[in-house]
Amino acid sequence: MPGLQDVTRGRLLYGGDYNPEQWPPHVWPDDVRLMREAGVNLVTVGVFSWAALQPAPDRFTFDWLDTVLGLLHDGGIGVALATPTASPPPWLGHRHPDTLPEGPDGIRRLYGSRNQYCPCAPAYRRAALAITEAVAARYAHHPALRLWHIGNEYGTACHCGHCAERFRGWLRGRYGDLDGLNAAWGTAVWSQRYGDWAEVLPPRRVQYVINPSQDLDYQRFCDAMLLECFTAERDAVRAHNPAVPVTTNFMDFYRHTDGWRWAAAEDLVSLDTYPDPNDPLAAMRAAMSKDLMRSLGGGRPWLLAEQSPGAASWRPVATPIRPGLNRLWSMQAVARGADGVLHFQWRASRQGAERGHGAMLPHAGADSRVHREIRALGAELAGLSEVVGATVPSDVAFVLDWDAWRAVELEHQPHDGFRYTDRVLEYYAPLWRDNVTCDFAPADGPLSRYRLVVVPNLYQVGPAAAANLAGYVTAGGTLVVGPFSGVTDPDERVYTGGWPGPWQDLLGVRVEEHWPLPDGELLDVVSDTLGDFTATMWAEWTVSRGADPVATVRGGPLHDRPVVLRNGHGAGTAWYVATLPSPDAMRRLLRRICAEAGVAPVLPDLPPDVEAVRRGGLLFLLHHDTGKVEIRREGNRDPAPD
Ligand code: GLA
Ligand code: ZN
Repeated sequence: MPGLQDVTRGRLLYGGDYNPEQWPPHVWPDDVRLMREAGVNLVTVGVFSWAALQPAPDRFTFDWLDTVLGLLHDGGIGVALATPTASPPPWLGHRHPDTLPEGPDGIRRLYGSRNQYCPCAPAYRRAALAITEAVAARYAHHPALRLWHIGNEYGTACHCGHCAERFRGWLRGRYGDLDGLNAAWGTAVWSQRYGDWAEVLPPRRVQYVINPSQDLDYQRFCDAMLLECFTAERDAVRAHNPAVPVTTNFMDFYRHTDGWRWAAAEDLVSLDTYPDPNDPLAAMRAAMSKDLMRSLGGGRPWLLAEQSPGAASWRPVATPIRPGLNRLWSMQAVARGADGVLHFQWRASRQGAERGHGAMLPHAGADSRVHREIRALGAELAGLSEVVGATVPSDVAFVLDWDAWRAVELEHQPHDGFRYTDRVLEYYAPLWRDNVTCDFAPADGPLSRYRLVVVPNLYQVGPAAAANLAGYVTAGGTLVVGPFSGVTDPDERVYTGGWPGPWQDLLGVRVEEHWPLPDGELLDVVSDTLGDFTATMWAEWTVSRGADPVATVRGGPLHDRPVVLRNGHGAGTAWYVATLPSPDAMRRLLRRICAEAGVAPVLPDLPPDVEAVRRGGLLFLLHHDTGKVEIRREGNRDPAPD
């Protein structure tokens, strides 16, 4: 199977999106010269070129792309060639209005922007496959071609009649017949029973709250339809040349596409990430995304497909990133497993919606602060070839589950501010601050190689995942489970008899009630071993069933209820945390758990804001604050030189 190693060929990749159709041809040779001088060796071409390649349904214009690919190839620059299907030209929507997506309100989204397609519309599927076929037939053996970039940032949702029809078919496949559907969706509630498949609809605008199982299934369905679109294009390009690897670009933590399924369908994982320079947690959030990408690819190197060397024009306040920050964030990507650093985009657009977006070659031109940094980074990455292909060791895995994520954020949950990724970040933050490297893992995947498995939340859990995590602890692992977990089954049916439904034995606790707290209310918690602390947002009426209470509530209706519990189970240990402890308390808790589980930081006792990651034989030390820090290492140098 082809992979990133076929693209890198031993060198870190460096470059960005290149949109030559926005520029007159006399600019192109200049672009290539400047790219070479900046150390660029890979550019992504064609992402939004559909109209330029097929100006009318029966007319293809490839001459300009022939010229561009020729120039790039002559300049020694490889190409990630896109299938341009993320943004159909106006002629498609004009001739086939049914290819335009409908919102839940039944209103059609028109052309004039981008991403205006219904993933189920037969006319869109046909047209997308036709342009993909044409591009693949012409370029699959082009010497500049290194990688296929399918579509762009899949995520478009539609609620139209085509989607309704496909949804019914998808539900038939899942539940067999209407009895199965009625049972799974609990349609006995509010007189929702379906007697005919034609009655079944996507969640559209309704009078009051939508059926949660219908909502959840529609999210799963939309994901499946987008994946079908991707797979069809992937297969079309592969048929022309199976040696060229295929990817599509993911977006950080994105609820609408299940990363585990998507990553399994592509040859390599790639990420678009735009950390907010005004967010004090930007570096931590970015680290988390990068760890996720490495994990989605099973630990293999991944590609940073987009970041901005300047501003991200879609931000309400589009502050550019300060000097040095693009380098820092690029090195963070490489440290956390990236074998390439690409940007959006090469040359700043003069027109269109992204005219204010940062670029490697900004409006100011090559004689600019940003471009000088781009050149310096290109030179630096060219000297880092030894890291190419190397892996990033980790003893800790975070369970990440898209079904649980979608389900916990359905309407009418006990606290509508309970956000899955916030829960993940609360556990990730103290480990990141202590320089403990973390992977992510699916709930039903192999876990035995980890010393510690963290489940920040698993509100919805099925039998396979429940057994997998219990088996991990029985065999000697250490597990931490966060609040509001083990509440529903995959149909979104509540477990009865106390929570966490399938894990009361494993965790040695029985939860009788979930107890969300109003904003601003602090829960007072006492603990001999962790020190007293406060917690917010969430608590639970717990009853220990054999677990040791490590921290308990003081005062109020939950007085004396344990909210941190530790339970020996089989050869391992399982912790349950039934609230959201303050950041300091989380840090103390996780330090204790790591110490017990034998999880060590990459380097202990580093100054704050210094991130340490080991990759292959290199130790990366990244300082996220401005100013100087001094780090002294004494004694034996360990086998990893820095
Ligand atoms: C996304 C897209 C790019 C561009 C950038 C701007 O990542 O893939 O085409 O629009 O956003 O930040
Ligand atoms: Zn549709």
